[in-house]
Amino acid sequence: MADIIWQNQQTTRSLERLLPRLDARFAAEADPEDWAAFKARLERHFPALFPLLLHLYGEHYDFFYHLEEILASAARAWLERPVQLKALDAQREANPDWFQSQQMLGGVCYVDLFAGNLEGVRAQIPYFRELGLTYLHLMPLFAAPEGDNDGGYAVSSYREVNPALGTMAQLAELAEELRANGISLVVDFVFNHTSNEHRWAQQAVAGDPEYQNYYFMFPDRTMPDAYEATLREIFPDVRPGNFTYRPDVNRWVWTTFYSFQWDLNYSNPVVFQRMGEEMLFLANQGVEILRLDAVAFIWKQLGTVCENLPEAHMIIQAYNALARIAAPSLFFKSEAIVHPDEVAKYISLDECQLSYNPLLMALLWESLATREIKLLHASMRDRFKITPGCAWVNYVRCHDDIGWTFDDADAAGVNINGFYHRQFLNAFYTGRFAGSFARGLPFQENPKTGDARISGTAASLAGLEKALREHDSLEIDYAVQRILLIHSVILSIGGIPLLYLGDETAMLNDYSYANDPTKAGDSRWVHRPFADWQRIEQRHDANTVEGRVYQGLRRLIALRQEHAAFAGHDTIVIDTGNPHVFGYVRQHGGQRMVVLASFSEHPQTVAASLLRIHGLGYVFQDLVSGQAIALDSNVNLEPYQFVWLTAVV
Ligand code: GLC
Ligand code: GLC
Repeated sequence: MADIIWQNQQTTRSLERLLPRLDARFAAEADPEDWAAFKARLERHFPALFPLLLHLYGEHYDFFYHLEEILASAARAWLERPVQLKALDAQREANPDWFQSQQMLGGVCYVDLFAGNLEGVRAQIPYFRELGLTYLHLMPLFAAPEGDNDGGYAVSSYREVNPALGTMAQLAELAEELRANGISLVVDFVFNHTSNEHRWAQQAVAGDPEYQNYYFMFPDRTMPDAYEATLREIFPDVRPGNFTYRPDVNRWVWTTFYSFQWDLNYSNPVVFQRMGEEMLFLANQGVEILRLDAVAFIWKQLGTVCENLPEAHMIIQAYNALARIAAPSLFFKSEAIVHPDEVAKYISLDECQLSYNPLLMALLWESLATREIKLLHASMRDRFKITPGCAWVNYVRCHDDIGWTFDDADAAGVNINGFYHRQFLNAFYTGRFAGSFARGLPFQENPKTGDARISGTAASLAGLEKALREHDSLEIDYAVQRILLIHSVILSIGGIPLLYLGDETAMLNDYSYANDPTKAGDSRWVHRPFADWQRIEQRHDANTVEGRVYQGLRRLIALRQEHAAFAGHDTIVIDTGNPHVFGYVRQHGGQRMVVLASFSEHPQTVAASLLRIHGLGYVFQDLVSGQAIALDSNVNLEPYQFVWLTAVV
């Protein structure tokens, strides 16, 4: 109690001390009304920001200097913020639930692979609209080293677009044009590390101690060894360990991912400030949602795994508060591909409003492999609930590998041994398991732990590649159904569905990456092919697999958009009484929907009495097939069939 009072007094006093200083620096150049608006938001959010920064940086003798500089950066960013974005700020503040709508649909692509460059992306706006996108995530498009740059995740400047893709001015124009078409631009905020070619890294290599302190650099192995005693290896087969020796400065540099990705040192308040400036710069280009990359890793502490530490959350919360002050329409999406308990901790209105749902993603594939939904059912029943006002981003595939991030105790609860189950899933999805329909590749197999993850496109993992090669028309049908089935779940379960562009036309694995020395060592490239526009054109022909998948998805997207029940996250996972059929009830805006999804290639039934418990009325209509179902009979499901049932009144 005394602590809280002390802290409140500190907060008030600090603000009283800072406001006149900020006035002196900015009031003269600012429009009075605009400046007053900034100060009002600062006063509103300072009580959240201050204790976080105090905890993180309070022991620095010059803490108040850093605090003032952080706020000055925010003030500068606000004064530079384009007026149309300030209008968007007002709009979002008035309607904070905008992303809960059933109209929301995300798509993600690489600029170069999908459309060549930013101009090419702009030319595809009609395609995005045809698909129904309201959110477009462009994979990292910033200046990056030539050759291997981890698909752009090694950023050399956050203020420059990779010249091969376009310019920052083009990005800002694209953001505006997308917005005019109802599409929010999403880009990555790769804030855990910079590339070794970033100016900061180069100054560090040149021997400047100020910039060396932006990173973690050690003169010998003492500290790296001490840290490594408790660290995981993220990319064990490309570079064991977490540190890279740089002979040019004779230092060991912390590199969690590739050796050219240098982890930033957030215990240095200057790093927090300068990355905050980069964040607000991106917001001022018209980026509406930042995907916070690799959130788990941003704070290090000796003797811990250096993942998901409390300070990592504080850094993000502090950035969130800065966004509320200087770019209020900016939202965060967390990329925490970690244990589900830890994923949940990043999600709140004060931290990340949106989060990938890696658990649902992994378990959709788990259910396809096992034809059983018990782990999916138990996990979603207990873990789908999300902080009010926040949203899941549900996906079946992304540009990364699939990791089997379910909880071992959840698995044990349904009589599954987590360790052996992961081995089975890896064998299944690499096609090593007899009878597997999947064609995937292992990613980062770690011989020390027996661990591995999976690469492959949705279509190849769902069996289409094998079926097409074997000209097996029944298997082709099944593969198409599997692709639609898992998408039907992400489109109906609640949250924002996110399509990996290319999946909507059943794009297959592309093994040619192995011929490119900058990609050969990283199997994730197998599921990141160039868009094949000839194949995409086939979407109009319902006799092709491209057309079947595309038209099937389009139909589901349209149904989702028409029915309010699909908005929000009011989802009750139900026991269907059938081990192969996943089910849930969705409700919103006075509408109610019962969803059933069969993960089996054999016909299944669900008792009508179950629908009477969860439904309304006695006659249902399946929106997907358009058929009516009377409740005197059971619901019969064809192989891999899914139904979206609504009561007929
Ligand atoms: C994220 C990205 C992944 C990248 C890593 C390092 O996990 O999704 O592609 O390799 O961060 O930036
Ligand atoms: C991410 C995840 C890890 C993922 C990797 C990219 O940050 O934590 O699980 O596989 O980086 O491959």
